[in-house]
Amino acid sequence: MKKDFKRSLSIMKSKVFDFIPNNLKEILLNDPLVVIKNQNLFDHDLINLAASLSFKQGELRDKVLHWDFGPVMKMNFDPQARNYLFSEEKVPFHWDGAFYQEPQFLIFYCLQSEGEGGETLFSNSNLLYEDVKDTYPNFKLTYHTEKKVHYGGSFSTQLYKAHPLKPHEMILRFAEKVETEKNPVTLEINADEKEASRFYSELSQKLYDTKYCYQHKWQKGDLLIADNFTFLHGRNALKTNKERSFKRVQVL
Ligand SMILES: [Fe+2]
Repeated sequence: MKKDFKRSLSIMKSKVFDFIPNNLKEILLNDPLVVIKNQNLFDHDLINLAASLSFKQGELRDKVLHWDFGPVMKMNFDPQARNYLFSEEKVPFHWDGAFYQEPQFLIFYCLQSEGEGGETLFSNSNLLYEDVKDTYPNFKLTYHTEKKVHYGGSFSTQLYKAHPLKPHEMILRFAEKVETEKNPVTLEINADEKEASRFYSELSQKLYDTKYCYQHKWQKGDLLIADNFTFLHGRNALKTNKERSFKRVQVL
């Protein structure tokens, strides 16, 4: 395994394994991004893993987020896509479930990835918070998008929030605007126009700073688990990596 890959993960307080550790759930509380290499998994393995990582009690549906299509989302490039997530465009930073129900952990499993582009970006919002808390007030942010695929609507959030599993840790609930023909997302900031525009351009640039941002170049068999509260995530444009294929499961 490449040294620079391990080094950049350790900056993010994250770990890499060649097997799924028994105490993965505990590891994730300290190391909010874990990569496990060379896995060969079926949907039921992913669902079982997701259920085992949940801190919730109850039935499977209480532990693993179920959408109209079930708990496992296939993520492939679709040239006819009505939504940017399935297009070749870049995916700006966001967190999952904001328009519906926020999962604790995201599980990504890579079936195929070749060529340039399609790297997933993870920006550590707890580190970012420590850096920006004295610069920006706790703005109220309102996001809106039309429901064309599995999510949509409007919601408001404060910029700063406590991590639900670690109340002493603060995180950011900041997503970039999605300026696309394919299902845009708008953002309204509760501040005067000049202040809002300076805040937006500075913070959206910081998300990509390598002090906070880890870029994962995928290999077939990679299983990546990320804390959806600590990390904001996005994706580079697909470029030549159009055969990129993934499964995603979300842990409540
Ligand atoms: Fe996402």
